[in-house]
Amino acid sequence: MTKGRIFSGVQPTGNLHLGNYLGAIRNWVALQADFETIYCVVDLHAITVPQDPARLQQATREVAACLIASGIAPQKSILFNQSRVPQHAELAWVFNCVARLGWLNRMTQFKEKAGKNRENATVGLYAYPTLMAADILVYLATHVPVGEDQKQHLELTRDIALAFNSMFGVDFFPTPEPLIYKTAARVMNLRDGSSKMSKSDDSDFTRINLTDSSEMIAQKIKKAKTDPEPLPAEMAGLAERPEARNLIGIYAGLSGREEAAVLADFAGQGFGKFKPALADLAIEVIAPIGARMTELLEDRAELDRLLDHGAEQAAAIAAPVLDEVKQIVGFVR
Ligand code: TYM
Repeated sequence: MTKGRIFSGVQPTGNLHLGNYLGAIRNWVALQADFETIYCVVDLHAITVPQDPARLQQATREVAACLIASGIAPQKSILFNQSRVPQHAELAWVFNCVARLGWLNRMTQFKEKAGKNRENATVGLYAYPTLMAADILVYLATHVPVGEDQKQHLELTRDIALAFNSMFGVDFFPTPEPLIYKTAARVMNLRDGSSKMSKSDDSDFTRINLTDSSEMIAQKIKKAKTDPEPLPAEMAGLAERPEARNLIGIYAGLSGREEAAVLADFAGQGFGKFKPALADLAIEVIAPIGARMTELLEDRAELDRLLDHGAEQAAAIAAPVLDEVKQIVGFVR
C-alpha cells in the first residue's frame, strides 16, 4: 500500500537550477519510497511563451536526463513528457469551461509573466493554470510536491476540482494537497535576495545550474551578494538580511538539516568562512548530477525509450479517468 499518488511537473525552458532542485526535485526523489509517483516534463506549458522548436526538443531531453540524474528512477516513477499524453489537453479544455475568468484574473504568475503588455500575452499563458489542474487531476493525484511559487496554482486546482464536482453533482475529483517543505521552498536570486532564483533571469550569476562545473559553482557562490555582518546565532537575526538568509537556507537544503542548526554551527563567523563551506557542499551535491546527466544524454535512443515507456504508463492511468469525465459531462462516445 502506498500513501497516495503524487504528481508534479517541471518546464523544459532552460537549465534546471538549485531552486528547482531544493524546492522540488530532491523532495520528488524522497517521495518515491512511500508514494506512487508520476513526474512530467511539461512541454505544453513551455509553449505558452515562444520557444525555438529544436531547442525545446533538446531542453525536454535535458530536463528528463537531469531528473534521472537527480535520482528519479524510471523503475520507481512514471517519467514522461506532457505532450505525449493527449488526455492532459483534453481535460484542460473541460476545465476551461469550469474555471471562471475572475479566478484566473487573480493569478500572480500570469501578471508577472505577461508583464506590461498583457494584451499581447497568449491565451495559453492565461489558461496555464487550468492545464496545470488537468495535469494533476487526470491522474486523480492526492499530493503535489512543489516550491512555494506554485501554491496559488494548487489552490486553484482544488477550486476547479470542487467546482467540477458540484457542477455535475458528483464526487469524482479529489482535492489534492500541496506538499511544500519548510526549508528552501523559495530559493532566492544570488544577486538579489528579494527575487526568486529563476531560469529566465538574464544573468547566469543569479542562479546555480545543475549543469554548472565545480569551478563555476564555487565562483558563483563567491560572488553571491552578502553583507559585512557576521552570522547571528538565531534565525531572528536574519530577518532583515535576505541574502544571508537565502545562503543559510541553501546550506540547510543541501545538507538536509534545519536552518537553525546550520546557523548555530556558523554563529559569529563571517562570509569569508561560510561561503567556502557552502561551495564545497554545493559541489559535493550538484557536480555528480551534472556528470550523470551528460552520460545519459549521450544515449539519446535509450532516453527516448524511457520517455516512451513513461508516456504509455501515464496514458494507461489517464485514459480511463478521462473516459469517466466524458461520461459525466455528457459526451456521446
Ligand atoms: P517550474 O518549471 O517553474 O519549476 C519546477 C519546480 O521547481 C520549483 N521552483 C522553486 N522552488 C524553490 N525556489 C525557487 N527559486 C524555485 N523555482 C522553481 C517550482 O515551485 C516547481 O515545483 N507550473 C509549474 C510546472 C507544472 C506543475 C504541474 C507543477 C505544470 N503542471 C502540475 C505541479 C503540478 C512550473 O512552471 O514549475
